[in-house]
Amino acid sequence: MKVLRLVTAAAVTSTLALLPLATAGPAAGAEASAAARDRPLRQLAADDRLRVGTAVDTTALAEDAPYRRIAGSEFSSVTPENVMKWEVIEPRRGEYDYAEADRLVRFAERHGQKVRGHVLVWHSQLPSWLTEGDFTKEELREILRRHVTDTVRHFKGRIWHWDVVNEAFNEDGTLRDSIWLRELGPGYIADAFRWAHEADPRAKLFYNDYNIEWAGPKSDAVLDLVRTLRAEGVPVDGVGFQGHLGIQYGLPGGVAANFQRFDALGVQTAVTEADVRMVMPADDEKLRTQAEGYRLLLDACLRARHCVSFTVWGFTDKYSWVPDTFEGEGAANILDETYRPKPAYRALQAALAGRARPTTSG
Ligand code: XIL
Repeated sequence: MKVLRLVTAAAVTSTLALLPLATAGPAAGAEASAAARDRPLRQLAADDRLRVGTAVDTTALAEDAPYRRIAGSEFSSVTPENVMKWEVIEPRRGEYDYAEADRLVRFAERHGQKVRGHVLVWHSQLPSWLTEGDFTKEELREILRRHVTDTVRHFKGRIWHWDVVNEAFNEDGTLRDSIWLRELGPGYIADAFRWAHEADPRAKLFYNDYNIEWAGPKSDAVLDLVRTLRAEGVPVDGVGFQGHLGIQYGLPGGVAANFQRFDALGVQTAVTEADVRMVMPADDEKLRTQAEGYRLLLDACLRARHCVSFTVWGFTDKYSWVPDTFEGEGAANILDETYRPKPAYRALQAALAGRARPTTSG
């Protein structure tokens, strides 16, 4: 079965190969060889034993045929952008609705893609019955245990990576004041990993956060957490670097070196939500800087021995969380609104083409 899929994938030519570059990006564009240009990202990444993924907007997947075609052909893993979040899968207490997430998992299986499960424990996108409910600590702990256990069990065997705990830290490296920390104390983190592992021992379990791509108080704290948890035998397998950058802040330095620190702990790493936004309107120079931003994230991953996946948080400017979240910002993705490749897409192609890492982890 696996072999068949590989053969099928090898025959695929990028649906984007024939499209003109959205905006001239001479540096990035020229680097990609002609051969590289007509191979989809997933194939180029396979040469590096790396999965290249995208977050998927399941409404777009259902309604937009070009979106669906590109999601299936360019990527070798998918992450549900929203449909595995608590408010979606348990809108009313005890009533699970996994329908949308199940549909995406089936799509992934049909396309030979892995699924990154996102997300089990987070402070955001929680249902109101939970945030507004008046629960004792014991009740809340039991609610969390059940959510983690039931959800991981529901998808057992079909999820490659789970983002078990998301965004637990503040920028200064202290723990975020969330419902979980307030009510359950810092032990909720270890508990969540243990419950998830018990429910699906083969899924790789990740801690995931943003602004930890470079060294600083926040990434130091995550490094410390992961080191401590593993020393205590807590089943943490990996760290996800979300990779939400904004070019107006300048591109971060020391990203590759920071990935290496985590690599040295023996955990897997992944870029889980890459997008590089800008203050609108976009122009050629901003798009070139954006391409560098994507490239530096991918390079850091390629240089880390245990970096196993590189996921973009959506692949087209047509559907992006950025304009809704960051006022006046946008154009954060690798394809424009009409699915034409931007310099960022060419930069990823170029970085993947012709590389081969000496060793990798499974
Ligand atoms: C975002 C989605 O993209 C939006 O559609 C939603 O309205 C809010 O959440 N970090 C995460 C993701 O871990 O789950 C977030 O996704 C983006 C930031």
